[in-house]
Amino acid sequence: MPKIRESIPAVEATKLLREDHAKIKALFSEFEKSENDVMRKKIAGKALVELEMHAQLEEELFYPAFRKQLGEESLIDEAEEEHHVVKLLARELAGMAPDHGRYEAKFTVMAEAVKRHIEEEESDVLPRFEQSGHDLEELGRRMMERKEQLMEQISGPEYLLEQGTGLKAKRPSGARKHGGRRTRGKRK
Ligand SMILES: [Fe+2]
Ligand SMILES: [Fe+2]
Repeated sequence: MPKIRESIPAVEATKLLREDHAKIKALFSEFEKSENDVMRKKIAGKALVELEMHAQLEEELFYPAFRKQLGEESLIDEAEEEHHVVKLLARELAGMAPDHGRYEAKFTVMAEAVKRHIEEEESDVLPRFEQSGHDLEELGRRMMERKEQLMEQISGPEYLLEQGTGLKAKRPSGARKHGGRRTRGKRK
């Protein structure tokens, strides 16, 4: 495991994720209230960047840690598929002019999907992880460090246009080591 910089303050991973959620939801509210295309474009751009960074942090660090700790494969499979749907819409939006007749509709549909996803994470995924005994501060440090890198890498929504829309190839073959246990039915 790469060495983590000492200078990064201790923050619990789940607290960081909740803070991201609050920031993203605040941007959605701002978008709803914005009165012209210039404002909408600016706010949507910020929201798309925040979403991209947040999704990458979860997919690269939080979800793998959750799988390893809890083995709840189907829960995280669903979360990643939800990310995938949001990414498709986010990439379309990144390539669309804000005065396009469907821009607002598309953004609203994406925002609703994200809000539902956040609600599921906050009511189910994050509490389970918090109760699992995982070292939240160690993961928080790694997430902070990665976020710093992502902030340099993702400067604007144009970044999204250069990225693919597929789910990242992740789990190496044979990695379904928790016996492929399906734990459906625990979610509302
Ligand atoms: Fe997520
Ligand atoms: Fe999240």
